[in-house]
Amino acid sequence: TKTENQMLIIFGASGDLTARKLVPGLFNLFKGKHLPKNFVVLGVSRSDMTDAEFRKKVALESEHLKSQATVKDFGLVEDFANQIFYEDLGSNYDVNYSRLEKRISDLNSKYRTENNYIFYLSTPPSLFEAIAKNLTDQGLNDETSGCKRLIVEKPFGYDLETAKALNKGLQQYFKESQIYRIDHYLGKETVQNLLVTRFANSIFEPLWNRNYIDHVEITNAESGGVGSRGGYYDGSGALRDMFQNHLLQIVSLIVMEPPIDANAQEIRNEKVKALRSLRIMRDEKTLHDHTIRAQYVSSKINGEVVKGYREEDGVDSESTTETYAAIKFYVDNWRWKDVPFYVRTAKRMPTKVTEVVIHFKSPHHQIFKDSGMFNKDNKLIIRIQPDEGILVKFGVKVPGQGFKVERANLDFYYSGLTETHVMEAYERLLLDAMQGDATLYARADEVEAAWEFVNPILEYWKNSEAKVYGYSAGVWGPENADDLIEGYGMWRNPGP
Ligand code: BG6
Repeated sequence: TKTENQMLIIFGASGDLTARKLVPGLFNLFKGKHLPKNFVVLGVSRSDMTDAEFRKKVALESEHLKSQATVKDFGLVEDFANQIFYEDLGSNYDVNYSRLEKRISDLNSKYRTENNYIFYLSTPPSLFEAIAKNLTDQGLNDETSGCKRLIVEKPFGYDLETAKALNKGLQQYFKESQIYRIDHYLGKETVQNLLVTRFANSIFEPLWNRNYIDHVEITNAESGGVGSRGGYYDGSGALRDMFQNHLLQIVSLIVMEPPIDANAQEIRNEKVKALRSLRIMRDEKTLHDHTIRAQYVSSKINGEVVKGYREEDGVDSESTTETYAAIKFYVDNWRWKDVPFYVRTAKRMPTKVTEVVIHFKSPHHQIFKDSGMFNKDNKLIIRIQPDEGILVKFGVKVPGQGFKVERANLDFYYSGLTETHVMEAYERLLLDAMQGDATLYARADEVEAAWEFVNPILEYWKNSEAKVYGYSAGVWGPENADDLIEGYGMWRNPGP
């Protein structure tokens, strides 16, 4: 697909994301010659900076960029940096944007970006609507000449009500087709590969249902704590920060029916149907039995003392915000009736890993009575990160007399596939938005359906005495989390 000449205008440009993800992503696109001939980045924020200072900060002297560019790229970094500009807004984002409009239109004429503008909102969400309004006041939402797109960062809403209000707010100024809601997990190759695994093969999909699948497990673990983001995180928690968005997106790709086509409309129609079929937990007993929250407490890892969550900077010393959430739920539709899903996400785990485990049922007539442990052990493990790949566990005969069955692995690693550059999530997503492809962006109804499911859990945790368990930093969460998975023994803890 051809990318039109265009300008990317980043709001909140002095923030961490611009230097850490956006500019390095753009640089890789530049290096890979994916950017259009005429392309300009305009950073916008409240800080007072010149173009030169901004270029230094996000490109020329940026550690993040340096780690991507080889020495021989140095000339390239300079060429790339020359396409970057900066404009400050003064003390506030909610001001008259006539000066900004003038700057945009000057750059547009000078660099021939043909009135194609993408606005990337990387500010606190409370500013999204005001920015959309002020852009509209300057006619910058008008697609009569050139495209106008709005990319919004997470978090998209704080709960169901605020997400709905935000959708409504933005849609007053931009059409849904102009709005791109980022979920960077959708930019990950392995997450997209869930669609290919299921729908480009004939060996998995026939088994992909309640007749053959026993239960589904998803683990998202991070070894880091909340770091410098305590202030944000304490008002959020694992359920809002990871589960409502990234993990439910993964769930929707596992649960969805085959779309009739791989375009944005069809795929997102099926995803929203999947999300709407999650059984919403309404009564206290279910909420109590099927959800677990916990916080990491101080412990020693490799001889070093690691702070507990409540001791982290920016965190309330009596906080009940969860850094661990484990949820059991069902999907009420024909395909998934009665198949339990177990999903957990946490910080300060032993390692950083995200994986999906499809546990298949045992053969219904067992003829190898001595096969012991293997019987319940057919698994498809999709490693989202790291060691991206797919693992199938199946039984083989142990050589020798009798029929002893052992477990064997069929293991595929992405790293063994090609030497081609695998795009980083942000790189891929930026390019898609530049090409007007919204397949990997969340639609309004998807985001709302995910909040519908999450909202009662948030309410329950807020208003009830639901216990906040503790777990030592560096272990796989509280022991009680195994109770959730009763009947199956325990969670599968991926190795380091
Ligand atoms: C972000 C969360 O959306 O995703 C962070 O706000 C989390 O808390 C991060 O650390 C995880 O992303 P990844 O790509 O490192 O798994």
